[in-house]
Amino acid sequence: MEKFIIEGSTQLKGEVTISGAKNAAVGIIPATLLVNGVSRIENLPNIIDVKLFCEILKELGVGVKWIDDNTVEIDATNIRTSSAFSEKVKQFRASYYLIGALLGRLKKATIGLPGGCNIGDRPIDQHIKGFEALGAIVDINQDVVAAKTNNGELIGNSIYLDVVSVGATINIMLAATLAEGITTIENAAKEPHIVDVANFLNTMGADIMGAGTDTIRIKGVKELRGNATYSVVPDQIETGTFMVAAVASQGDILIKNCIPKHMESLTAKLLEMGANVELGGDSIRVSCNKRPKKVNIKTQPYPGFPTDLQSQTGVALAVSEGVSLIEETIWDSRFSYTNELNKMGANISVDGKRAIFNGVKKLKGATVAATDLRAGAALLIAGIVAEGKTELRNLGHIDRGYEKIEEKFRSLGAKIDRVME
Ligand code: EPZ
Repeated sequence: MEKFIIEGSTQLKGEVTISGAKNAAVGIIPATLLVNGVSRIENLPNIIDVKLFCEILKELGVGVKWIDDNTVEIDATNIRTSSAFSEKVKQFRASYYLIGALLGRLKKATIGLPGGCNIGDRPIDQHIKGFEALGAIVDINQDVVAAKTNNGELIGNSIYLDVVSVGATINIMLAATLAEGITTIENAAKEPHIVDVANFLNTMGADIMGAGTDTIRIKGVKELRGNATYSVVPDQIETGTFMVAAVASQGDILIKNCIPKHMESLTAKLLEMGANVELGGDSIRVSCNKRPKKVNIKTQPYPGFPTDLQSQTGVALAVSEGVSLIEETIWDSRFSYTNELNKMGANISVDGKRAIFNGVKKLKGATVAATDLRAGAALLIAGIVAEGKTELRNLGHIDRGYEKIEEKFRSLGAKIDRVME
């Protein structure tokens, strides 16, 4: 096991370049299974979840050739099985996209139930409702999901999602791309990664309209074309992580290769907190020369404030002036990082899905542990901001979703060492 040793307190200054989006990449990789041919994916983040997904594809008989750290060629011509049960499948959440992708390509799928971040109950009933609406027969028992079609066909249908779900929206798009007829997803999720997966599928010849709105229409096509080249969208959450880090550390960061439009809800909050935010075409500069002001935040599906930036923003609120409130509406257990922040001198109390942040002047270094991916990023920022030495454990969570995170923070002046426990 590795841990970070962080020497605070650093005002982060300089430039950082954003990697490809994790949550788009983990939709695009399984989408390559829909094509009887080769897909070249560029700007993939070099992170554990992406590498794991590519290893799973190999286990299905799919060719995976890494061209460099961020480019892969995937050849799904000779896919040989619709079953994926290995331990790797259970190690991360997004392996559930194998159900939609295999159902789409082979009209059947048997998958070990996915794991992932421990942030509360993570049902997949809306995914299943979607597959069933397309005519699939779905069985779940003892950690296995088995989906099949009666006569080897999926038939387009109209599906209304009872909750706005990123995973269900992408999974239904994957299954419907090669279905017969038209599928409509109402109350669809609108996150940038939904649009990116749809754009990738359309590059291969799919007929998907409306991604990024709450109604997506997928006209089934007979087959997709091989030899597509696609570059993954910049990571919205990594961008936000550095924006918040600039504010929490009272620093000045120029964030390059990002999409300012994706950051509107966070930008609005950072401005309310008294930060300066300058938006460029594909860059954002965030600076803050005093303690941030208190704000209230409620997490919501896109374009609302992202749950995946809640923990990182909590660090800025922990050192803000005044009393702030965060209401988490997406996940049940996404405040576990506040216990760790309190070990560092923060004053945060949690009541169910609400947390009250009594801002303190300074955090102090302590030994803390990442409880999930975004909590890990939050505690890393906290260590950079705090006075003295912080030991941050459970780095596995962080490495699942952030490429070269310590190198990027080091280039902004942070003092971070990765050492063995
Ligand atoms: C995706 O998870 C992301 N993961 C999560 O990011 C992110 O927090 C989440 O979307 C919300 O933005 C990936 O993209 C791999 P949902 P997902 O289905 O798709 C409920 C990170 O840190 N729900 O949009 O699993 C669910 O319980 C990770 O990068 C149902 O009730 O989330 C939740 O309350 C963590 N039934 C809400 O919907 C379902 O069938 C939103 O979940 C599906 C979801």
